Amino acid sequence: MKRIAVFVSGGGSNLQALLEGCESGYIKGKITAVISSKQGVYALERAKNYNVPCYVFDKNKYADLDLMYKEISSLLKKQSIDLIVLAGYMSILNADIVKQYANRIINIHPSLIPSFCGKGYYGLKVHQAVLSYGCKVTGATVHFVDEGTDTGAIILQQAVNVEQGDTAEVLQKRVLITEHKLLPQAVKLFCDGNIKLCGRLTQIINQE
Ligand code: GRF
Repeated sequence: MKRIAVFVSGGGSNLQALLEGCESGYIKGKITAVISSKQGVYALERAKNYNVPCYVFDKNKYADLDLMYKEISSLLKKQSIDLIVLAGYMSILNADIVKQYANRIINIHPSLIPSFCGKGYYGLKVHQAVLSYGCKVTGATVHFVDEGTDTGAIILQQAVNVEQGDTAEVLQKRVLITEHKLLPQAVKLFCDGNIKLCGRLTQIINQE
């Protein structure tokens, strides 16, 4: 059973999909910690409903950010975390944590990487940019986290149609539905040891 820490900053609908995936046995893993960058977000309520211990590390409360990351790192070590999942986490992990957990950090991004990703592409901004460009297709990507922003090896992607008349909010909701399938699927693959990494390419093995 892999031990999973999920990092959140908002509503936590992706966290919910993971909690359900673990509870049903679809994911052979256990979420042992939810770490939020903000107090009072709904994701924390979701974690509490499943009796998962929650921790808040708000960078505004730290004069020294290195100290915050050291505290996060020692929590992860103490909990013997095997996998970190960034599920709507609005901060960037520091280089030390990325190095310590190389190929063991997964992020979900609400576009088809390498389009509409990187610095400045978060939340509704992603979907607004897709609409302003006039794309007919967008989607979701689950990838490993490296030292860049949204640059790590891609694990899974799923396309989502842009419909005529979509607003960013409507498109965001449609993409989220896909995220809720794709993220648990990627976490399951990781926990089953079915993701093989060759450089920046991934291969899914033992595909059912
Ligand atoms: C998702 O769209 C995710 O791709 C992005 O932030 C959003 C988080 O939504 N990184 P939620 O908090 O899981 O509902």
